[in-house]
Amino acid sequence: MAKIVIENKINNFNKVISVDGDKSISIRSLLIGSQSYGICKISNLPNSEDIISTIEGLRKLGVKILIKGKACSVYGKGLNSFDFKKNIVINAGNSGTFARLLLGLLIKTPHLIKIIGDKSLSHRDFQRVILPLSEFGAIFYDNCRGKLPLKILGSEYVRPINYFEKKGSAQCKSSVMLAALNSPGTTIIKAKKSRDHTEIFFKYLKLPINIVRDKNFDIIKINGEVQFKSFKYNIPGDISSSAFFIVMTLLSNNSKLLIKNVNINPSRIGFIKIANKMGAKIKILNKRNKCGEMIGDIFVKSQSKLKAINCPSSLNSNAIDEFLIIFLLASKASGVSKFTNLDELNKKESPRLKLGSKILNKMGIKTIQKKDSLKIFGNPKLSVQKDIIIKNFYKDHRIFMTSVVAALCFGGKWVIHDVDSHKSSFPSFMKLLKKIGSKYNLI
Ligand code: S3P
Repeated sequence: MAKIVIENKINNFNKVISVDGDKSISIRSLLIGSQSYGICKISNLPNSEDIISTIEGLRKLGVKILIKGKACSVYGKGLNSFDFKKNIVINAGNSGTFARLLLGLLIKTPHLIKIIGDKSLSHRDFQRVILPLSEFGAIFYDNCRGKLPLKILGSEYVRPINYFEKKGSAQCKSSVMLAALNSPGTTIIKAKKSRDHTEIFFKYLKLPINIVRDKNFDIIKINGEVQFKSFKYNIPGDISSSAFFIVMTLLSNNSKLLIKNVNINPSRIGFIKIANKMGAKIKILNKRNKCGEMIGDIFVKSQSKLKAINCPSSLNSNAIDEFLIIFLLASKASGVSKFTNLDELNKKESPRLKLGSKILNKMGIKTIQKKDSLKIFGNPKLSVQKDIIIKNFYKDHRIFMTSVVAALCFGGKWVIHDVDSHKSSFPSFMKLLKKIGSKYNLI
């Protein structure tokens, strides 16, 4: 796989861009579409690898999906309508969201279905969904490892469950919500706050869902086995992808950026809250509601004075995919930033707390990393003068893009391996880098 070489900092820019469609909402639209009745029309679907894995996986289960550019038609045949043949193997690639959510839709499969993934996904924990889905009645064959590859065998007699989701994982919550669609009676979930795209989708489709919100937890009740019709959906831009360009703007000189049509669901904008607490002045303009999701345009300017943060862990779940890029902000901030309760960060596509800290050390930033926390000793005059090589990061898309942003903002000569890794979530990343005027070589 190619490497990128960056030897020049980015010059000032003033641009308007759009990023690829949101990964979480795209995967949900395809999976939920597969359970609807009729033809779903989904637009602005990104051609990222996680979405391709989702489409290919659903096709293996007999779902007809047609793609024309960024437009997609999903031919739903109703609840539990997959074509459950013998010996199906589904490759989820790098996508934890697809693999974990799909398992929720397989709790009635009469034949074993095998789920495999790439090297990174095969390291990740699946016990977190095996446990609740077993309670519905599904049986798992995973050699007691709680990891991929695993096989699932469904049950004819699934039952609704009471489930307590304590990690703040939207993937676990959503996997159980999808299983609840296909089980009789009422499933009750008490879930620590996390992104709520699945809940919003169910409400948009008028499915029987009831949510009582508390400060830290939501109680979600879903009545299963209720058929629903196909839908139209336009996928908004991904805030997690936008974050790379927002930080690039904040850390460069005299630059301005407007990012159009971004999903600004309150459960996803922890990053903006954290950056603004550090002195950024990120604005959300033109807010509107589409299909239950909030959309807006994000405006950001360079900010030479950033201050350290003692990051409230109540924001962790709402910023979980953005911590690597937040660590870059903390590197340039005055003072010592503290991030705590971030155990989940080491369970992502790579051990991000550990690798994020290592990247900062390579740039000359002191950190103290513990099992679930990180202290970053910021340097407002940070300027990297040396050669930095970034490799062996499990091809984690966000490690790659964070390193590119660091190279373009802090200087030095950077060689970053595994360029293609960005394609799992943000295929137009390189094109947008060019658009804002960055210089790089691929070798
Ligand atoms: C996701 C939830 C988060 C996030 C992932 C996408 C989702 O994972 O990190 O990129 O779409 O539900 P967890 O639920 O494991 O925190």
